[in-house]
Amino acid sequence: MNRQLTPDGVLRLINGYWATGIIGAAATHSLFTHLEAGADTVSRLAVAARISERGTQTLLDGLVSLGLVELDDGRYRNGAEASAFLVEGKPSSLSSLAQLKLNQMAGLQVLPDVVRAGGPGVGAATEVADNPHWERVVPAIAAQSVPAAVIAADLLGLAEAGEISILDVGGGSGIYSAIWLERNPAARSTQLDWAPVNAIAGKLVAERGVADRFTCIDGDFHTTDFGTAAYDLALYSHVAHQEGADGNVEAFTRLREALKPGGALVVCDYVVDGDRSGPPFALIFASEMLLKSNQGGTWTRDQYHAWLTQAGFEDITFHDAAPATLIIAR
Ligand SMILES: C[S@@+](CC[C@H](N)C(=O)[O-])C[C@H]1O[C@@H](n2cnc3c(N)ncnc32)[C@H](O)[C@@H]1O
Repeated sequence: MNRQLTPDGVLRLINGYWATGIIGAAATHSLFTHLEAGADTVSRLAVAARISERGTQTLLDGLVSLGLVELDDGRYRNGAEASAFLVEGKPSSLSSLAQLKLNQMAGLQVLPDVVRAGGPGVGAATEVADNPHWERVVPAIAAQSVPAAVIAADLLGLAEAGEISILDVGGGSGIYSAIWLERNPAARSTQLDWAPVNAIAGKLVAERGVADRFTCIDGDFHTTDFGTAAYDLALYSHVAHQEGADGNVEAFTRLREALKPGGALVVCDYVVDGDRSGPPFALIFASEMLLKSNQGGTWTRDQYHAWLTQAGFEDITFHDAAPATLIIAR
């Protein structure tokens, strides 16, 4: 018998901004952190977060609805995902990202116009020089790259790789350098990014005690020389999605030249299936790139394979780092 269709699912999707609002507000008031510390009733949480009881109850109702917080006999506690990814201070915490997304929500109002035009237009894209967008985004997305950086370190056998030199193009927060230099005490890393972003990275690697093996090049990677046969490892993480085909082929070609013989390029991004039927996060992330870049998007495995081959790489492998994919090219 056919199940009677109800509008419940579509209504929840149409009101999807409630999820962004509730998670962003809960993160703003450190609710997940207070829950983790043991505040487990509305009144205890309201006192700990210094917010109204009415507001606390409403946020908790929303968080239970979203499946992030569990309610058992009148006591609230973080579910496993909230505990792992929304408590402040943990390396994998997405609390800052949740707050950033709430702040960016109004920006979606222009999406219908951007869809009509095919892009945000000159001056509205984020890949322009010294856009303050990056200074806000980069610290908030650092945690997103932690799992991929760890998986890549294992795949590459970094801990045993000895004295290697690394180039991180668009390194952002410096999270890859922090993790990789911690793993390998003989490695050195160079990050190429805009000057204000490099300053943010400098602070992170200093906090991790690896600043003495970290250097920065300030500038636009489109026009800055990567060098020739200078690095054992090159990294291009979450940059390919802001570029189109030509931009990526050019960057991959210059990165190949920058690698020593036998060196490897690591690309990390949200890679979609060949027929664009999935995976869900990579498909939906294309909207972010339509809104914020003039050429970007989420690219298929076949496109990456073709671009890397065109750039001269011969051995190209894909590795799961959900929701991202790691590509290692030699
Ligand atoms: C999405 S973030 C990725 C950060 C980091 N690689 C990661 O995976 O966590 C993109 C980074 O590329 C940098 N970037 C974008 N366009 C650039 C350009 N034309 N020249 C230099 N850096 C650029 C941004 O400043 C930002 O740090």
